Amino acid sequence: MEKLKIFNTVKDTSEFLTKQSSDGRTIGFVPTMGALHEGHLELMRRAKLENDILVCSIFVNPIQFNNKEDLKKYPRTLEDDIRKLESIACDVLFAPSAQEMYPEKEKTVYDFGNLDKVMEGQHRPGHFNGVAIVVKKLFDIIQPDKAYFGEKDFQQLVIIQTLVKQQNLSVEIVPCPIVREKDGLAMSSRNKRLSPEERKLAPIIFKTLQFVKNNFHKFSIEEINKHVVSEINSNPGMKLEYFEIVDKKTLSPITNLIGSKDSIACIALFLGKVRLIDNIAIF
Ligand code: PAJ
Repeated sequence: MEKLKIFNTVKDTSEFLTKQSSDGRTIGFVPTMGALHEGHLELMRRAKLENDILVCSIFVNPIQFNNKEDLKKYPRTLEDDIRKLESIACDVLFAPSAQEMYPEKEKTVYDFGNLDKVMEGQHRPGHFNGVAIVVKKLFDIIQPDKAYFGEKDFQQLVIIQTLVKQQNLSVEIVPCPIVREKDGLAMSSRNKRLSPEERKLAPIIFKTLQFVKNNFHKFSIEEINKHVVSEINSNPGMKLEYFEIVDKKTLSPITNLIGSKDSIACIALFLGKVRLIDNIAIF
């Protein structure tokens, strides 16, 4: 395939992709909300390498935003995104309208136990139910062999893996490492909304996480928490929302750093009006 095919309807997309699958081609899928950056493009390059066809979606999913202002301000840069998709030889873009994705009001309620009660789930009520609904719909439409998700949104990744298990979906979920700017800031579509001054401060987030990773064995959890709170909140315009060190599978807080395996430190904060998240594996 050569030229990027752009579909806006479920019917056109599934007709085209069903034919591709029945001809024996494998489908790699990267769901996004657009405003594409290198983080997204890395997922796509990998999906392109590991599958016959690369399908991406761009859909700013209204039901996963618990904050109206955030939804309104979410960057929308479709023309630019299409150029980026063409530059990496993406085969198919699915860019539906909200009406196309949600012809009726959504009522599905998923049960992810503890996984969507903590961290992002606690601070953004309903967020992960909205994510799960849209991702399940996208999987149904696209029927991918593999789907690629960034560890930047670590909790989202764990929830999608759980969704796949709960619903017996046949898609393989491929986790991909966080892509960072040279100064350590995790790439995010929301970085575009930072002022130049805020952007200069932003690398403190990753520096703080690195400090945690390199020094956890010297301190208690309480001391680490205290350090993070003061390190973040001492900067103008920076306000910590949460910092948690959790088990990678259960997302339950680690109570004792010594001897705890497979944990991850997760952070969310406001920099001015922009909400940013990041994480670092501790073991
Ligand atoms: P979005 O924020 O656009 O992210 C799309 C995918 O890119 C997600 O899997 C995310 O984890 C990954 N990603 C974003 N920044 C990254 C970075 N710096 N390094 C590595 N991967 C990165 O996540 C969503 O959209 C939505 O919730 C979605 C899954 C599309 C459902 O609406």
